[in-house]
Amino acid sequence: MKLLQREFVRQVPVSEAVGWWNQWDHEHTLVVHGESWLDGHLLYEDERTCIAFVTIRVPIFSFLTSTATNVNLKYDAHTMYTINLGLFGIPSITKITIHEDPPDHITHHTTYTFFLRGWRRLLAPLMSPMIARWNERVWQEDLPLKLRRQKMLRHGFRDFVGLPEKLADRRHDGPIECRLPIKRLPDSPIETGRLLG
Ligand SMILES: [Fe+2]
Repeated sequence: MKLLQREFVRQVPVSEAVGWWNQWDHEHTLVVHGESWLDGHLLYEDERTCIAFVTIRVPIFSFLTSTATNVNLKYDAHTMYTINLGLFGIPSITKITIHEDPPDHITHHTTYTFFLRGWRRLLAPLMSPMIARWNERVWQEDLPLKLRRQKMLRHGFRDFVGLPEKLADRRHDGPIECRLPIKRLPDSPIETGRLLG
């Protein structure tokens, strides 16, 4: 068994809650990451778990697609894991940590670990740049969402309510929270495949 690990660290001027919102808002993946995420079926979710079938386009080898089982676990206030069984039956664990310091500024760590067994060990040199490319693309696609949500929350925006009526009220200096599971409309495309619960 060979372990392939890649770690990426980034800084972004948003609150930790916005960072987690982006990780757990499964609805945006099929739209914002539509080049890479081809299909998603949410099977189950609660305040610290999400299980889904997802179909992705493989980076570099874009003619290949892979349908995988994704299990997301919120481990503690600053840590989540994604456990994935994907292309060629290769298991992987993605660990994400988010720490906010100073306020409205986060350090975002992503560590991918792939478990390569037998002939799959030969894939390591190919997979390493693929992981970097995947991570960079997803990060760049998510960045405007995070910055926009942070800005609007600081202007007092509330989900399914909107901005305060009066311009003078459009300011929120208090804490920003992210409650799981993220609320969404019942006819959201991601809901159509719900098979459990
Ligand atoms: Fe995203």
